[in-house]
This record gives sequence, structure tokens and C-alpha cells, in this order.
Amino acid sequence: MSVGIWGIGSYVPENRVTNDDLAQRMDTSDEWIKSRTGIEARHLADDSEATSDLAYMAALRALENAQIDAQEIDLILVATVTPDQPFPTVANALQHRLGATKAASMDVSAACAGFMYAVITGSQFVQTEVYKHVLVIGVEKLSKIIDWEDRTTAVLFGDGAGAVVLGPVAEGRGILSFELGSDGSGGKYLSQQGAHLQMNGREVFKFAVRQMGESAVNVLKKAGLTKEDVDFLIPHQANIRIMEAARERLQLPEEKMSKTIHMYGNTSAASIPLSLDYELQQGKVKDGDLLVMVGFGGGLTWGAIALRWGK
Ligand code: UT7
Repeated sequence: MSVGIWGIGSYVPENRVTNDDLAQRMDTSDEWIKSRTGIEARHLADDSEATSDLAYMAALRALENAQIDAQEIDLILVATVTPDQPFPTVANALQHRLGATKAASMDVSAACAGFMYAVITGSQFVQTEVYKHVLVIGVEKLSKIIDWEDRTTAVLFGDGAGAVVLGPVAEGRGILSFELGSDGSGGKYLSQQGAHLQMNGREVFKFAVRQMGESAVNVLKKAGLTKEDVDFLIPHQANIRIMEAARERLQLPEEKMSKTIHMYGNTSAASIPLSLDYELQQGKVKDGDLLVMVGFGGGLTWGAIALRWGK
């Protein structure tokens, strides 16, 4: 059974914070942030909006876009490293709030690669025809674990959510191949110690540049395709320089890579579905297009998917 995306939705909190706004709070500048990362603004949730609230908004939009009822969902997977609390999970909260009466639910923790992990996990149940519809959400409220005294990380991240409904699709459509990987020896480079996120930016940068390109090439090979077949690259939005390296590895022109980092910053597990939803709304992704999605993050973790868009 082929598995694809029936519907998609996304959500960011209303409060938009520009680089200049941050420069008022800490020793940084729009010029530094823009030139080193590509980020111009990010959306940050306040105390009135929890991670599960962001996820709920994206999930409602995805269900509407997929034109299915919550009662038809068999499984809810939420990729996040910033859940409301350790347990019950964000997925459990959504099951109740959406009225997904027959759905099993759990969170998946694989940092910025979390959405790739959750989509592939969910897709196995559809592929084996155990379940028909799986709701997968990538969501983060990173603002609550950011150390606002640390300018080297505080300027990078944003809050948001993206959701997809997975279901059976026609042969040749949907997920054609995937790669997931991890290397725990790099765990020290990006982690949450105590209340705050900590990162060795240079080490993560080096790893990411290598891994994004490699994983993208690997999923194409696994699907029996080549660089020339790619219509659109949707990379994890962590740093424009990392994204550009992946694009160059695939020898794609600029207009074939999704770029939303300037608007949202790095939203971790939410960044790929947020970007895919944005490109669909812009009419950039069309029926039959070959998409390569690729992510990496703390763990270290990584994942890539080659997907033929459409049902
Ligand atoms: O989702 C996965 C998560 N993370 C990533 O993908 C991050 C990967 N890494 C990166 O994106 C980059 O390494 C950063 C954007 C984090 C940093 O860029 P960089 O070009 O590696 O800069 P750097 O760390 O080498 O810092 C260069 C300078 C330093 O000053 P000195 O030592 O040269 O005097 C920093 O103190 O820039 C300084 N700096 C800042 N200046 C203004 C660091 N942060 C800031 C800041 N504003 N916010």
C-alpha cells in the first residue's frame, strides 16, 4: 500500500518578533543575524499559548484540508521536544480535544528531525493496512527553553506547528523512499540541560552540511531517481547557509528550494511541515511533483523522505 499526504495545515503564534526587536533586548544586530543565518523574524508564543494549542490549530487545518473527521483518525503522532509537560503527551491532549475517539496517541522525540521520524513511523501502519489515517504533527514552543541571556542561541529559534494527515494513495504517489539515522556520540552538541537549550553551533553546522546533502542523495538513490528528477527540496530551516549547501549538492536552482527561515526562524520539528504548507499555498508544489524533505537535529538525528505529491 502506498502512503501519502491527504491534507496539511500549519500555524504560528501571532506575535512576530524581528531581529531589531531582539537587538533591543541583547547585544546583537539585524545585520549579524540575517547574514549568518538568513533569519529576519520569528513568531513567539506567550504564556497563554501552550505547545498543544499550537498543535491543535495546525491539526484542525490539516483535517479540514484532508476533508476527514477527527473520528476517522487511527493514530496521532506528535513530534516535539517542547511538550506541555513530560506526560501526559501533547498527542494525548489532542486526541481528547479533537474528539479523535478511536485514535491511539503518543509523542515522538527526535528533535529537529522529529517530523521525519514521525511521518515514517506513522506511514508504516498505513502501509501494512493496520491503520488508514494517521495525523502527524511537528510542533515546538522553543521560546520556553531558550536562554534569553545567550545571544548565540536566542536569535535562532521560533515557535510554530505543522500537521499532515497520512493515508493510502495511488501506486507511484506518496512516500517513495526514506532514510532515518542517529549518532548519539554527538548528543553533547545540542541538548537541553536543566531549563535551557544549549548548542555548539559550529559542530552542529559541520554535521548538518554533510548530512543534509548525503541524506537527500541517499533517498533519491533508494527510489531509483536522480537529482534531475527533483522538483522541490524542503530542507529543515536551521540556517540558510546549511540549506544552500544541500541545494548545491543536488544542483538545484534557487527557486526549487523552500525558504521560510526568514519568516519563522528555526522551528525545529515544525519547520518542514510549515514550509511545505507555505509552498503549497504559494502554488509552488503541484500534483505529481517529486519532493525531497530532509531534516537533522539534536541527538544527533537525521531523516529524509522522497515523496511524489498527490493522492
Ligand atoms: O536545528 C538544528 C539546530 N542548529 C543549527 O543548525 C545551528 C548550526 N549552526 C549555525 O547555524 C551557526 O553555527 C550559528 C548561526 C549558530 C553561528 O554562526 P557562526 O558563523 O558559526 O558564528 P560563530 O559561532 O563562529 O560566531 C562568530 C562571532 C563570535 O564572535 P567572535 O568570537 O568572533 O568575536 C560570536 O560571539 O559572532 C558572535 N555572535 C554574535 N554576534 C552578534 C554569536 N552570536 C551572535 C549574535 N549577535 N546573536
